[in-house]
Amino acid sequence: MTYSALADEKLRQIQETGRARVLAIETSCDETAAAVVEGGRTVLSNVIYSQIPLHRRYGGVVPELASRNHVGQVGAVVRQALAEADTKKDELDAIAVTSGPGLVGALLVGVSFAKAFALGGGLPLLGCNHILGHIAANYLSHPDLEPPFTCLIVSGGHTHLIEVEDYARFRLLGRTRDDAAGEALDKVARALCLPYPGGPELEKLALSGDPHAITFHSAFNEGKGFDMSFSGIKTALINRLYTMEQRGETVNRADLAAGFQYTVNHTLTRKAIRAAITAGSGSLALAGGVSANQNLRGMLSAACAKEGIAFYCPQPVYCTDNAAMIGAAAYYQLMAGERSELSLNAYPNLSIFDEDQT
Ligand code: KG4
Ligand code: ZN
Repeated sequence: MTYSALADEKLRQIQETGRARVLAIETSCDETAAAVVEGGRTVLSNVIYSQIPLHRRYGGVVPELASRNHVGQVGAVVRQALAEADTKKDELDAIAVTSGPGLVGALLVGVSFAKAFALGGGLPLLGCNHILGHIAANYLSHPDLEPPFTCLIVSGGHTHLIEVEDYARFRLLGRTRDDAAGEALDKVARALCLPYPGGPELEKLALSGDPHAITFHSAFNEGKGFDMSFSGIKTALINRLYTMEQRGETVNRADLAAGFQYTVNHTLTRKAIRAAITAGSGSLALAGGVSANQNLRGMLSAACAKEGIAFYCPQPVYCTDNAAMIGAAAYYQLMAGERSELSLNAYPNLSIFDEDQT
């Protein structure tokens, strides 16, 4: 039997039985991750090897170092994921891998590994969108959550408000016009001399600051639309910080951190709640690395409670990059009969909207 025939047969079995034990691989940025997920909702293993200590000394991710490090780790991480799931290669039903968006060299490592693994095992291969993975992280933490719902995705590379109409149908409600929220938090953290990645460090510093002592305004964010902008307020903070330093004024870094975090989270909350109400959604889900932020979770949860909207967010381990979320997203695509060819490539700008493939 040819590889194609074997993969088609496996895919047919998945669709017929609804059962799929999927090995998922994620290498889009600075985490080498592998997981085994059953039926899209049950995580049998979730291994994450973080490269953060490697990139910290440079203040951000160095793409070439990330790719090389993925090459060194991916085999061991996959072996560990299979061992922890007590799963042999021939007990797998499919291989899923993040094929975009992300750093092209980093993505290529996971994609090449997954292609070889699929070919060797005669398993269907599925290239998954990283953003869909973040959305699907919510399915892992909330077995009751099903589309339709509104989703706010906030990561280092993306800030999107999306209506999840079905497992495979998405409608864009709003997005950032410039920096992603996580990117702005990271850049402000860097200006405040905090280590990479800045989001969680800024959150810690903000705990001892007054969020209303120093405020940042954006007429755009206060407008009616669902698009957002974080670049202007980021520059405002950096200018303010440098001016204060030049004048020899005492800089209260905690107040700056708290004020900036409050502005970002308030903007995200306001836009997300209004989008959910406009879309007529009874549920709002949060996703992406910034969803680990307790202040944002608290604000959204309180605002949802006030409006009678059910609020969902992933457990912290599924908020930042991981492979279990890719295994969850993959299940619904496999059930819809999707599989990728062995010609699958890495797509650094992959979008979840067909019209947006730039
Ligand atoms: O989803 P993710 O792990 O990678 C991307 O796909 O970008 O998100 C990483 C982003 C970074 O900007 C990081 O600073 C931010 O998520 N982040 C946080 C927190 N944890 C991670 N931002 C604010 N508070 C946190 N606790
Ligand atoms: Zn991510």
